[in-house]
Amino acid sequence: MSRILSAVAWPYANGPRHIGHVAGFGVPSDVFSRYMRMAGHDVLMVSGTDEHGTPILVEAEKQGTTPQALADTYNRVIVEDLAALGLTYDLFTRTTTRNHYAVVQEMFRTVHKNGYMVEKTTMGAISPSTGRTLPDRYIEGTCPICGYDGARGDQCDNCGNQLDPIDLINPRSRVNGEAPKFVESTHFFLDLPAFANALEIWLRGRKDWRPNVLNFSLNLIDDMRPRAMTRDIDWGIPVPLAGWEENPNKRLYVWFDAVIGYLSASVEWARRSGDDDAWRQWWNDPAALSYYFMGKDNITFHSQIWPAELLAYDGKGARGGTPGVFGDLQLPTEVVSSEFLTMEGKKFASSRGIVIYVRDMLARYQPDALRYFISVAGPENQDADFTWADFLRRTNDELVAGWGNLVNRTASMIHKNFGEIPAAGELHEVDAAMLRQSSESFAKVGELIGTHRHRAGIDAAMRLVQDANRYVSETEPWKLTGDRERLGTVLNTAAQVVSDANTLLAPFLPHSAQKVHETLGGTGVFAPQPRIDEVTDLDDDSRHYPVITGDYRDVPAWASARLVPGTPVAKPTPVFTKLDDSIVEEELERYQAR
Ligand code: MF3
Ligand code: ZN
Repeated sequence: MSRILSAVAWPYANGPRHIGHVAGFGVPSDVFSRYMRMAGHDVLMVSGTDEHGTPILVEAEKQGTTPQALADTYNRVIVEDLAALGLTYDLFTRTTTRNHYAVVQEMFRTVHKNGYMVEKTTMGAISPSTGRTLPDRYIEGTCPICGYDGARGDQCDNCGNQLDPIDLINPRSRVNGEAPKFVESTHFFLDLPAFANALEIWLRGRKDWRPNVLNFSLNLIDDMRPRAMTRDIDWGIPVPLAGWEENPNKRLYVWFDAVIGYLSASVEWARRSGDDDAWRQWWNDPAALSYYFMGKDNITFHSQIWPAELLAYDGKGARGGTPGVFGDLQLPTEVVSSEFLTMEGKKFASSRGIVIYVRDMLARYQPDALRYFISVAGPENQDADFTWADFLRRTNDELVAGWGNLVNRTASMIHKNFGEIPAAGELHEVDAAMLRQSSESFAKVGELIGTHRHRAGIDAAMRLVQDANRYVSETEPWKLTGDRERLGTVLNTAAQVVSDANTLLAPFLPHSAQKVHETLGGTGVFAPQPRIDEVTDLDDDSRHYPVITGDYRDVPAWASARLVPGTPVAKPTPVFTKLDDSIVEEELERYQAR
């Protein structure tokens, strides 16, 4: 048994999330966490909404509201969507809690005390028309290193190098196109070069990361420069130092605070559980494992900035130091990053209507249909495309005609002929082989999920489903009504394989797993689901917010569970809804109409 931290990227609360987001961080982290719990591990899965920084500020301004009101609105929308998708967070919170502020400020103070926050005066960009600061990522221009024209002020997406806005050739504001003006400003910089050594040793020891994530991360080491961890902005967490704290226009950089959310959410979870120190088992113990799930645009922050913040807190950079009250915090075991999902061949762009919101998808389709598509065809190792035609085909041919049909015909025949799970008589070789294949699937599928190869994992589980469908076609139980013993053996075997396949598919398809479990006469919770609780801020009685949480301890083991003959089986109802061909055109029109 290991303790496993599932650290899931924090979605910005500046709008509803689309299926590209949940394909990147949501479904993969939930499949992994559900599997790990079934395999007997002690999982802590945390995240929340990311509510500071420019993305929130810009959208609030656009909507004519305050950043906090905007974040309140979308925090709730996102909580509802992620819960409806069945994502089993132990705690999904937000970055505007007092607890998060306190944890972030403690991190900053200790990192500063350890000597890794360097104060420097640099040239910052402001918008000449509004006089306000222009954040790095809102400045665009030509990359001075590779010549790419769409480079941002913080980073060039073409060559991956970190940039300063002032380095850009022909810089312009992405908000209104004007050329920014550069003025002097003082900031705290995280001294990244002081961690180059420690980061390289850590990364060189990471053998089983996805190669593109590891190579990208190693490349970053060659060009490490101090990076500003404060901003000229009035929305964010105050810098906890005399002379700074009182200044309403200086705040911590959103990425400094957001990644600390993994820790603060773990602390909040522990405080809410009644054991304030419970989080330490996942953070201070070198034997605990931690997996961070995100889309590839987040890699730098998780394989460089966050580990550097942790090393700085622990006092493990070039200048040493000592940890603060949180003690020695462990570095990530693995940064699990996915690639991008496109839609009908195009990059998602909410502003141009090229987007499918999770909410719209769940209003019209079963959550497991979306989870299935993402798991079987998602952007695991390379960019992947979502098309409605493919969604229709996979839902109808694979879920409905493959898995749903196996469940339905097996349960129907059992109901009709026995009304309960029949006992098996003597096994023929074909039955024994089927059962062998079924029980051998656990090791195979488990290994694949545990190493983040979900596409291969669900393929292997669906191969078992196909073979079981073939087994039923070949043994022809409908012709065996004159031989009740043989009929019972075949249907018992088929039901056992359905039960096994259902366990194997439960991490991917939890909603239908519960239903299949009940179809075979099972009772109780088989695949637990999250719930939404309305809570009060632990440190401020006047603040309330929704969180996703749940009790996920009571799950079936990752193994074949023998069905008990005599268990009543009722007449089944279909598990999956068949989609009409017309949805493809309807959906395409809907998105073109935007
Ligand atoms: N809000 C960021 C994004 O959507 C992700 C933050 S992940 C975090 O890109 F952990 F750093 F918060
Ligand atoms: Zn470049």
